[in-house]
Amino acid sequence: MSPVGRAAVYPPDIPFQAQQARGKRYNATIGQITDGMGRAIALPSLAASLGALSPADLSAALLYSPIGGIPELRELWHRWHRPQDAAPSSLPLVTVGLTHGLALAADLFGGPDRKVLVPAPFWGNYRQVFGLRTGADIVPVPAYRDRQWQPTALAEKLAELETGEPAVAILNLPSNPGGYSPTREERRVLIDSLVEASEARPLVVICDDAYSGLVYEPEIPRASVFWELLDRSESLIPIRLAGATKEFVFFGGRVGFLTLPYETASPVAQALDNKLRCLLRAGVGSPVALSQVILAQALRNDAIDQEVAATVELLAVRYRALKRALAETLAGSDTVFEVPFNSGAFAMLELASGLDPEAVRQTLLDDFDTGVISIPPRYLRLAFCSVEAEDIPELVRRVVRGVESLR
Ligand SMILES: Cc1ncc(COP(=O)(O)O)c(C=O)c1O
Repeated sequence: MSPVGRAAVYPPDIPFQAQQARGKRYNATIGQITDGMGRAIALPSLAASLGALSPADLSAALLYSPIGGIPELRELWHRWHRPQDAAPSSLPLVTVGLTHGLALAADLFGGPDRKVLVPAPFWGNYRQVFGLRTGADIVPVPAYRDRQWQPTALAEKLAELETGEPAVAILNLPSNPGGYSPTREERRVLIDSLVEASEARPLVVICDDAYSGLVYEPEIPRASVFWELLDRSESLIPIRLAGATKEFVFFGGRVGFLTLPYETASPVAQALDNKLRCLLRAGVGSPVALSQVILAQALRNDAIDQEVAATVELLAVRYRALKRALAETLAGSDTVFEVPFNSGAFAMLELASGLDPEAVRQTLLDDFDTGVISIPPRYLRLAFCSVEAEDIPELVRRVVRGVESLR
């Protein structure tokens, strides 16, 4: 644990004392303005936009959320994600989007000079969350060799560290920017290699499941690797971050969930939960109640499974359109190559050596009315999640023409 993680203790002050007073006839603890019986006083102008909520939900939406999140939502999320046969894990703690959950994990397990291994290319914000904020040492680990995803890449890098040195590894599957999820066999190799690596050191594996469930090939497993890392080794500590951001297309809602690999009532889960609530209180006060209420309403609705499946199918159509367009446009190309992808929101293209992705990006902006993301030293990222299927062939043609114009 980091120095901050060791020192963090949930203070026995206002929220703690107010929690103990919940339901008392006279509750003069917390500084919320209520009707005197614990219900919110709803300003009509605010309530007007929340007309669909029941009185209880309206009140919950306008008052402070408990620091760990609204209990019903935590239960609903737990049930939504947890496979029936998974080993024990905690009731998830609500965070302000995944970023905040990652920041809490970084506060606990990052810290000065802690090695944080990240398959590269990766979501750049890990540098800020772990490196800038806690002083951790970000170690990029090439995720691909000859455009093949490498299940043992993290374990091989871990083996280079001094025996006994604690480390953090990040698993982001489906990945951003790669759009890759391992096959059944690659998953087995990945998991076994991490279990073996944890024999030499305490190993925290952060499962960043931002794109959970967005998988478009039937033979690729959908459930998070987190569930299979549970209970495999005492020195392997998986932490799961997931959230409504992408899965429920609720980007602005900022609802994330942090799950620990221990049963909620166990002393270790209680101790970690205590530290996490301390850090949460110190950072954002408490998570946003309104968006938790909205998400809980959605999860209570029987139609939600179908609604989420419909979004996954919409993305699957764009995914297949991109696969087709790349197969047709890149056939025989010696400048642009497809990097394997099967899930998530993105695909990566690799450029032949000598081509600068940033120069390509600028050219696409200036001359082709097209925006993509450049990832040095040789990749472009296409967000197929945000382009209509019928526009995808033209997007790919423009990208290829842009690259060719720089040859
Ligand atoms: C890999 C990855 N992790 C985390 C996040 C952040 O999620 P949130 O918007 O819920 O903070 C993103 C967002 O793009 C992401 O791509």
